[in-house]
Amino acid sequence: MSHSIIIRGYENGDIHAVVDLLNRALTKDPVTSETFQRKVLLDPNFDRRGALAALDGEKLVGFALGLVRKYKLEDAPPDFDRSWITLIAVDADYRRRGIGRALVSRLEDWFRSNNCTMTFVSSYAPNYFIPGVDVEAYADALAFFKSMGYSEVYRPLSMDANLVHLTTPDWVREKEAALEGKVTIEPFRPELILPLLEWMKVEFAGDWQRFAREAMTKITTGEFRPDNVWIAHENGRVIGYCQHDNSGRFGPFGVSASERGRGIGAALLFKCLHAMRAKGLHSAWFLWTDDKVARLYSQAGFTESRRFALLRKDLVG
Ligand SMILES: CC(C)(COP(=O)(O)OP(=O)(O)OC[C@H]1O[C@@H](n2cnc3c(N)ncnc32)[C@H](O)[C@@H]1OP(=O)(O)O)[C@@H](O)C(=O)NCCC(=O)NCCS
Repeated sequence: MSHSIIIRGYENGDIHAVVDLLNRALTKDPVTSETFQRKVLLDPNFDRRGALAALDGEKLVGFALGLVRKYKLEDAPPDFDRSWITLIAVDADYRRRGIGRALVSRLEDWFRSNNCTMTFVSSYAPNYFIPGVDVEAYADALAFFKSMGYSEVYRPLSMDANLVHLTTPDWVREKEAALEGKVTIEPFRPELILPLLEWMKVEFAGDWQRFAREAMTKITTGEFRPDNVWIAHENGRVIGYCQHDNSGRFGPFGVSASERGRGIGAALLFKCLHAMRAKGLHSAWFLWTDDKVARLYSQAGFTESRRFALLRKDLVG
């Protein structure tokens, strides 16, 4: 790396230069200053030592964000041995001069000093930006991380659906008919708050609890309506759930492991999408699924919009 470049921890006045740099470099992921404030500076695990700026004189030409967990995520198993890189950008004129390498090496040293044994790009809950490196939009970054010793864990995908012509297929109606009298699928009711949270603790502990808690809180303040959250239960015993937000984001979405294959997921999905359509939403989207679940989503008109490489590196020594 050229001698004129200095790397230092994030300083308060950096915000505008960092947001501008991210918008120049992450061409498929524009970010507002408010998003940066919320997902980075207000993240409980934020640490200046993990937010590195590269400067050429006064000019900010590189930025990388690494995270180490300080606070456990609800009931998820402890993951203090993990670390994450959720953002990295070097200005186009400064690439291939070792700045990216220096930023990542400094982050890895900091991760090691926190006793982390592995690092991921970028599966950090709660505040990941994208599930990994977009293999098309950021092919250079994929080559970069591979040269730094990162390997692919798997390739999650984002999907989008146009809801304008949404119809529930006959096979879903048949599954729903078979569930009738046994499984109830309905929007949020206050009687289901605790059963939903108790179910999540067992089936989807961790970040999903936060999503469901926030969605139900928004129902209580009027930001969401009860049908932003759909719950499948047998006499009050929850076995599945999904939610959507007012921007058209669908999910989380899950069914108890022992109840899969009965059509509960399909019924939840179509009921929630119809509720979205009824509110005037024309499209639905989400950032992260795998190819197996994508087959169900494709039945509702979702198509692949982006493909990511989730990366991992074991930190040794
Ligand atoms: C990814 C990025 C941060 C790399 O920064 P950089 O400062 O150019 O990286 P370095 O100069 O330290 O590169 C280190 C090594 O990575 C590899 N590498 C970097 N860019 C590469 C490219 N475009 N093609 C192939 N290999 C590459 C090389 O092995 C390189 O070593 P070398 O130059 O000695 O051959 C930069 O390309 C960038 O900002 N891209 C746009 C933003 C982005 O995609 N962010 C990630 C989103 S997930």
